[in-house]
Amino acid sequence: MAAREIVPGVHAVGAIDWDRRLFDELIPLPEGTTYNSYLVRGSEKTALIDTVDPTKTAELMANLDGLGVEKIDYIISSHAEQDHSGSIPAMLERFGDAKVVTNQKCRDFLIDLLHIPGDRFAVIGDGETLELGDKTLEFIIAPWVHWPETMLTYLQEDRVLFPCDLFGSHYATSSLYVPDENAVYESAKRYYAEIMMPFRSSIKGHLEKLASRDIDLIAPSHGPVYNRPALITDAYRDWTGDAVKNMVVLPYVSMHGSTQTMVDHFVGALMARGIPVQPFNLTKTDIGDLAKALVDAATVVIGSPTVIFGPHPQAVYAAYLANLLRPKTRYATVIGSYGWGGKTVDTVKDMLGRLKVEFLEPVYVRGLPKDEDFAALDRLADEIAKKHQEAGIVPA
Ligand code: FEO
Repeated sequence: MAAREIVPGVHAVGAIDWDRRLFDELIPLPEGTTYNSYLVRGSEKTALIDTVDPTKTAELMANLDGLGVEKIDYIISSHAEQDHSGSIPAMLERFGDAKVVTNQKCRDFLIDLLHIPGDRFAVIGDGETLELGDKTLEFIIAPWVHWPETMLTYLQEDRVLFPCDLFGSHYATSSLYVPDENAVYESAKRYYAEIMMPFRSSIKGHLEKLASRDIDLIAPSHGPVYNRPALITDAYRDWTGDAVKNMVVLPYVSMHGSTQTMVDHFVGALMARGIPVQPFNLTKTDIGDLAKALVDAATVVIGSPTVIFGPHPQAVYAAYLANLLRPKTRYATVIGSYGWGGKTVDTVKDMLGRLKVEFLEPVYVRGLPKDEDFAALDRLADEIAKKHQEAGIVPA
C-alpha cells in the first residue's frame, strides 16, 4: 500500500490486513481490517498519529520512505492496544529524537505492554494542544472507547478528527474514503457491537462533547475515512441511544430436534404477530453477526436444551457474550427442552445479570413439545407483542 493524502500535509500511512480473520483470538473479521496511521506535517514539526499492528511495521516504514520522511518529532499514541501501538518501539528506534505524546494512563500502559522507556514520553492532558507550526493538534481525553486510556486527536486547522478505535470498522478496502456507505455502515455496526457497545454510556458523553465541533473528516484507525462524518456520528447516536427496535434475537442450539421444533414454531408465531425475528443457530453462527443483531433488538430469547444438568455450552457462550456486551435489550427469556431435570432456565437467567431486562415467562418443556407447549410459545409471542406495543416500538 502507498501513502495517500487526506488534506494537504496529512497522509494516511497505515497498512491493510486483507487476510486477517480473527481479532483478539475472538472476533471474526470477515472483511479483514486496516491499521490506520496518519502523518501530519506542519511547517515546523511532524507528528505520526498512532502506528500499526507489529506484523505490519515494514509496511508503515515503507510508506514513510515513500514520502521521504527523515524526521518525526512526535508519535501520538491514542490507545495502547498493540494493533495501534505495536510499532512504536520500532519507530522510536528509527526516529531517535521522537517523543511519544499521550496521556498519563496510556503512558503507563505503554510502559507495561511494550517496555517503552519512561523518558521517551511527553504527557498531555485533556484539551491541551501541540503546535506543529501551521497545524495544531488538540487532544480530547475520551476514556472507555474501549480501554480506560483512550483519547482522540483533533487537527484544528483542517477540522479532521482522529478518533482511533472509536467510529472504526473492520473493513479492508483500497479506498481511502468510504466506498459504499451501506457496506461500511453494516461493518461499523458490527464493530460497535463487538467492541464499543459495553461502553454505550461513555460514548454518549463523548458524542455530546464532539457535537459542538466542526468536523469535515473523521479518520479512524480501522476502516476507511469518513468524508461525510454524519454517516457514522448519526449511526452512533442511534446505536447508543435508548430506543430499541421491534426485533427478537433468538440464539439457539438443539441436540435431538426438540428445541429446534420449538424454535421453528416460535419464529412462525412471532412472524404471525408482525414481530421481526433473527434466529441464530449457534453451531453455525458467526458471533459478530449475533453481536450486531443485539445492538438494538428489544428482546432476546435463548433457546437451549439441557445437557446433563444445565444449558448447552453453546447457549452458555451466547448468554455470556450477551452479558459481556451489555446491549440495551429490554426483555429476555429462555425456551427449550430437557430430558430429566436440571437448572437451565435459572442458570441462563443468572448469566444475564448485567442486562437491565425484564425476564419473561420461559417455555421449558420435557422431551418433544406437545400441543400445550406450542400454545405456551404462542402465549410468549403474545406477551412479547404486548411488551413491544407498550414500549411504543410497534403501532398499537
Ligand atoms: Fe484497534 Fe482497541 O484496538
